[in-house]
Amino acid sequence: MDQKTFSIFRDLVTSRRSVRKFAPRPVDPGIVKSVMEAVRFSPSPTNRQCFRFIAVQDPLILQSLKIDVIRKIDEISETLEGESSQAFREYAKWFTFFEQAPLVVFGLFRTFVSRLPGGRKSERRLEGLAEIQAFGGAVHAMLLGLYAMGLGSCWMSGPLVTVTQIEELLHIERPWQVGAVIPVGWPESSPPVPKKPGIDAFFGWFPAC
Ligand SMILES: Cc1cc2nc3c(=O)[nH]c(=O)nc-3n(C[C@H](O)[C@H](O)[C@H](O)COP(=O)(O)O)c2cc1C
Repeated sequence: MDQKTFSIFRDLVTSRRSVRKFAPRPVDPGIVKSVMEAVRFSPSPTNRQCFRFIAVQDPLILQSLKIDVIRKIDEISETLEGESSQAFREYAKWFTFFEQAPLVVFGLFRTFVSRLPGGRKSERRLEGLAEIQAFGGAVHAMLLGLYAMGLGSCWMSGPLVTVTQIEELLHIERPWQVGAVIPVGWPESSPPVPKKPGIDAFFGWFPAC
């Protein structure tokens, strides 16, 4: 690896954006498969492969999931009052656009009961923590791989308000759980760069130097 490789990596990581509008153009499943071929090399705790991905292209399934999400948004906003209800509805407009994409990838994870001994005083529950971290890493690798192929995507947790219905419809059974909904398609436009923290806001040395 060298400066050129780093520069490709940096450009991929920094110029990838969450894409929420897609051109009405199908996505060749072969492209997604190539990306997944790379994603399967993502790290996982003790190499336990605690993530999976399922791609759905059927618009009827996606519409049905969207309707479930809309119903849930209504239900939740009815439990809230006045401005809170309105604010939630406003926020929840970011939960439903996945159905516009030509395909949606559902990210699954599974957790294990931690086998690490906790010592005399076990302060933290470790169960699931490592697996969920690995799942996040694999999702990011997938977003970058799709982007390298020219595809846009958006990591979404909003639609998980109906995670039970999603799992039922996709026949997902324990120990697997849906942790991310990722619409994928050809971007209709280039989204603007949102404000990102400066390096000092999230990285430091100890002891400080
Ligand atoms: C775990 C997770 C969940 C997210 N859920 C949603 C979502 O439900 N809807 C949405 O529009 N964007 C969602 N996003 C995308 C973020 O809003 C986006 O990453 C952030 O605004 C930064 O923009 P960028 O990805 O273009 O850098 C999610 C991102 C992450 C990491």
